[in-house]
Amino acid sequence: MSLNDLNGKTALVTGGGSGISLAFTLRLLEAGCNVLVADLALSPEADTLNKYTDAPKAIFQKTDVTDWAQLDAAFKTAHDSFGRIDIVCTGAGLSEPVCYTSEPLYRAFQLILPSSPKPLSGP
Ligand SMILES: NC(=O)c1ccc[n+]([C@@H]2O[C@H](COP(=O)([O-])OP(=O)(O)OC[C@H]3O[C@@H](n4cnc5c(N)ncnc54)[C@H](O)[C@@H]3O)[C@@H](O)[C@H]2O)c1
Repeated sequence: MSLNDLNGKTALVTGGGSGISLAFTLRLLEAGCNVLVADLALSPEADTLNKYTDAPKAIFQKTDVTDWAQLDAAFKTAHDSFGRIDIVCTGAGLSEPVCYTSEPLYRAFQLILPSSPKPLSGP
């Protein structure tokens, strides 16, 4: 799919309130793609999303991706709002996990790699 094909499409971007996923979100919007941003919060830099109110449109839904019900609700909102979901970008995350002994970190890791190994015991 080229950037020219994105007009009128819909993307769901987790972690799109900040960093690399916000940059990806803005690139999608510039190409005419509607975006539902599923994140814990929006960073100050995400203010620029406010100008996308029509077509393309940006919607923020407060979502903790480690909670299936919240993640499911984000998909439902995207589909109800735009009638389709064409692209899913799983950008929510932490830059440098120290280890996988923390339960929330482990659960987030499992969302990305369902077959990831069991958490290691701590140091
Ligand atoms: N920035 C880069 O150049 C780069 C390059 C390669 C990979 N990555 C990876 O991409 C991910 C994001 O990096 P970043 O630099 O944009 O970080 P960032 O901290 O700027 O953005 C991460 C976003 O994820 C959100 N988030 C964290 N936990 C969440 C949760 N449980 N539910 C919903 N949202 C949650 C945060 O609120 C934040 O908005 C990291 O995993 C990082 O390792 C980043």
